[in-house]
Amino acid sequence: MSTVPLVSNALRRLEGKVALITGGASGIGEATARLFSEHGAQVVIADIQDDKGHSICKELQKSSSSYVRCDVTKEEDIENAVNTTVFKYGKLDIMFNNAGISGVNKTKILENKLSEFEDVIKVNLTGVFLGTKHASRVMIPARRGSIINTASVCGSIGGVAPHAYTSAKHAVVGLMRNTAIELGRFGIRVNCVSPYIVATPLVKKYFKLDDDDDVLDVYSNLKGANLVPKDVAEAALYLGSDESKYVSGHNLVIDGGFTVVNNGFCVFGESV
Ligand SMILES: NC(=O)c1ccc[n+]([C@@H]2O[C@H](COP(=O)([O-])OP(=O)(O)OC[C@H]3O[C@@H](n4cnc5c(N)ncnc54)[C@H](O)[C@@H]3O)[C@@H](O)[C@H]2O)c1
Repeated sequence: MSTVPLVSNALRRLEGKVALITGGASGIGEATARLFSEHGAQVVIADIQDDKGHSICKELQKSSSSYVRCDVTKEEDIENAVNTTVFKYGKLDIMFNNAGISGVNKTKILENKLSEFEDVIKVNLTGVFLGTKHASRVMIPARRGSIINTASVCGSIGGVAPHAYTSAKHAVVGLMRNTAIELGRFGIRVNCVSPYIVATPLVKKYFKLDDDDDVLDVYSNLKGANLVPKDVAEAALYLGSDESKYVSGHNLVIDGGFTVVNNGFCVFGESV
């Protein structure tokens, strides 16, 4: 079944662009693959969930999407995903380094095993490094491109996730800033999207939530709106499109104000 475009041709913001999305088989990556496709992009989903990746591509227009198996911790996989994209569609305009894991639900440093810490760093940080490196390999000669990394509110503040996750997400923001400076001279923009909690399989598994549980809405600053994967996809759409042509080195936080509130000392009283 091919998807009928939900966005009229005149309003399609990624017409003619080619995007590679890691972690595109689920959650935020899946929502982004669908939205990018609606906006006219040719999309390559890179993930380790083959069945899900293939089935999303089947739903999207066949000629404009592909799945490639890619473990972002392996350089040869990322290299292959980038090469496959360029081979199939002729170029790479948007690299969305989005794949991530939560890691084990252990908050105390003395309980954390080295291997558990390293597992999270490998996917959430090394994966972004490798994605940025291999996207740059083809974007530098083209003198253009938009690299978008999924960081998190945990990339700006401490105390809301385990050490490995928080460390990795802070580092993703740092890597984005450094690479935005290095790659700016080649016309390549590098930015982050940093969501608050979104009800995706990653979060449901970490917090052991049922499908219909409201995800920790009680801690959110902005009431009356629930953050959903498509909201993050909309931010990625902006950063991938020419509407953000002069935006680089930016950490686009999508958190309803969560990271600017200090509940311990707030003149407006507690927000919860
Ligand atoms: N859900 C949230 O609340 C939230 C908040 C802030 C940031 N994030 C970040 O958003 C990103 C997407 O997460 P999500 O919430 O959509 O979760 P998700 O579990 O729905 O999607 C993550 C995807 O990454 C893939 N993946 C995991 N390890 C991989 C690997 N080694 N190689 C390739 N793909 C791999 C998974 O198969 C999955 O399809 C992650 O970087 C996550 O840290 C999520």
